[in-house]
Amino acid sequence: MLASMRILADLPLFPVAASEQAGSIDALYWFITAISILMTVIIFLGLGIFAWKYHNKRHPHATQIEGSTKLELTWSILPFLIMLIMFGWGADLYYKAQTPPKDAMEIFVTGKQWMWKIQYPDGTREINALHVPVGQPVKLTMASEDVIHSFSIPAFRVRHDVMPGHYNTLWFTATKPGHYHLFCTEYCGDQHAGMIGWVDVLEPREYANWASGGASQGSLAEQGQKLFEQNGCATCHLLDQQGRCPILRGLYNKPVQLADGRTVIADDAYIRESILDPNAKIVAGFQPNVMPNFKGQISEENVIQLIAYIKSLSPSTPASQQGSQQPPVVIAPKAGAAAKPGGAAQH
Ligand code: CUA
Repeated sequence: MLASMRILADLPLFPVAASEQAGSIDALYWFITAISILMTVIIFLGLGIFAWKYHNKRHPHATQIEGSTKLELTWSILPFLIMLIMFGWGADLYYKAQTPPKDAMEIFVTGKQWMWKIQYPDGTREINALHVPVGQPVKLTMASEDVIHSFSIPAFRVRHDVMPGHYNTLWFTATKPGHYHLFCTEYCGDQHAGMIGWVDVLEPREYANWASGGASQGSLAEQGQKLFEQNGCATCHLLDQQGRCPILRGLYNKPVQLADGRTVIADDAYIRESILDPNAKIVAGFQPNVMPNFKGQISEENVIQLIAYIKSLSPSTPASQQGSQQPPVVIAPKAGAAAKPGGAAQH
């Protein structure tokens, strides 16, 4: 059975399997397909045999049989157990797909009619192209600028809808250097079919070479710091003393007490919401309506830069950005930024 499954998996119908998770996803797929074929054969064979055997000509005086508990229990319990295997196996793969390893390298994806914009922690940007090193878990944090898109790399057996309004993530570990298609797999307008691109999986050394070529505008965190100053954030979010708005240093991934009594973790999703809809969650001790709403003012790509900056203000954050490209974790506050007038209410 396994051997025949392997032969089937080599059919050109299937894209190559180029990620760590591809093998187990294919195995489940073939298991379900094999069970479906088996059940179809049993049902149609039984149908044919009984139709022939109990035809009126051969069995003119058939008698009605009133049930058989044993038979009914068998054909209920056996399929139920087989379904439970599918459920358990599928749930296990789903859980793994939803849980990126802690040391995964982070890359940011923004879907927009009709392109995929990719941002790397070192500040490199690409459109419809993704470069990843082989053997390294990669976590994609994905946002949509407009409508629902869906990010899919068939060779890695990963796909996730990208919903406007919040972050979606997926992760994979590429196992084979090569050039693989990426797609948008959710109809998103008349040029949906053109929302495609390529993933290049490189050997670690080649990847380091490639990575050293980009980033003329500074790291993602540095780009975020620029935005932070340009948008006047620094007026109220003072770095080292209490301003009109919460201090952001050391905030990332820490619990935050809200005015309504809840406690939330200051993760990417929380920071994103607080930038685009500051009144959604008011921090305990602060007033609503102090911070302007940045929805429609800045793009999802800019939000990603700002989050990278805020993340860089928390030196204790376990490095989710890998490699040599990481910006210095502590960015010294600019004397001017902290002392900008107009911000600090007396506390
Ligand atoms: Cu984006 Cu289809």
